[in-house]
Amino acid sequence: MNISKQFFGLVDEKEVWLFSISHDSGASIQITNYGATWVSAVMPDKNGDLGDVILGYDNLNGYLSDTNYMGSIVGRFANRIKNASFNLNNHTYFLDKNDGENTNHGGYSGFHSQVFESEITENAVVFLLKSPDGEGGYPGNVDIRICYSFSDDLKVRINFWATTDKDTCLNMTNHAYFNLRGSGNILKHQLQIPSTEMLETNENYIPTGKLVPVTGTPFDFTRMRRVDERINENNQQLIWNRGYNHCYPISIMPDSDQPQPAARLFEPVSGRQLHLFTTLPSVLVYSAGFLDSKLPGKSGINYQPADGICLEAQFYPDSPNHPHFPSCLLRKDEIYNHSTEYRFF
Ligand code: BGC
Repeated sequence: MNISKQFFGLVDEKEVWLFSISHDSGASIQITNYGATWVSAVMPDKNGDLGDVILGYDNLNGYLSDTNYMGSIVGRFANRIKNASFNLNNHTYFLDKNDGENTNHGGYSGFHSQVFESEITENAVVFLLKSPDGEGGYPGNVDIRICYSFSDDLKVRINFWATTDKDTCLNMTNHAYFNLRGSGNILKHQLQIPSTEMLETNENYIPTGKLVPVTGTPFDFTRMRRVDERINENNQQLIWNRGYNHCYPISIMPDSDQPQPAARLFEPVSGRQLHLFTTLPSVLVYSAGFLDSKLPGKSGINYQPADGICLEAQFYPDSPNHPHFPSCLLRKDEIYNHSTEYRFF
């Protein structure tokens, strides 16, 4: 394994680097300390030919212009919090309203647009960030550590680690858009999600609080099937969300700190597969109905809806306002420690 870095540009006079972790086979990943963003994942297809399977840009300007959270680490809170507020310890915290009346993906100072400190270790690239008390409206001085590793069995692991000096809510994810063929859209990819329930949303993509059974609905991916098989059905949830933008709970084994199976993606032409495992309690499947890039992506063309699919392992959206959802509360002096693994085949 070889880890190297090259200069990617400057943001507010801070140095931004592009890191590469590569193996003798030619498989590699790239990440940058701008937003702790996953920039590329070059993986073999069924014939051994290498191709990049995540969307992104080949220069920093692309990322600076991006409004799609392309490959970024999202925080402090991935996805939305209703009315941009939540109550904790008898205090109401007011957050940035960057999505109508709601907050999305950490607000205006989200982690996706921050320059992290970086370190190369023996087998990983580590990004560090100090998020000050009150940033985006969230309490606590929070120390964040995001670690990317890539083993020669084609396993990308992201470890999310944090501490706080005041009780707070924390929910971090990676927002990579996958396209296992490396071009075109993802509608003919096949998807499997083990969950038999999903969270219903309202027209503003906020969970109503109801977990609904997927059996017999277009949301049932318990058997692997094509993403587009039922995506155009006359279903209110699909229409509001321009396709899939829904959270599926994951059964977490009690007392296990091992990542659990969350999703499988397969693309028949390339033969590539991705299996997602996580310690987090849900996966949000986003078929990218709102994707729209301001600048051309790596392929030279502007990205359009459904050019990629996000599999975002996270706490449930709006969980600070739903006491029956798994809690994303991080108490003072507790440690937030979660991992998500992307195994490519
Ligand atoms: C959300 C979508 C949103 C997209 C870009 C996804 O994680 O689920 O609703 O449009 O991010 O913000």
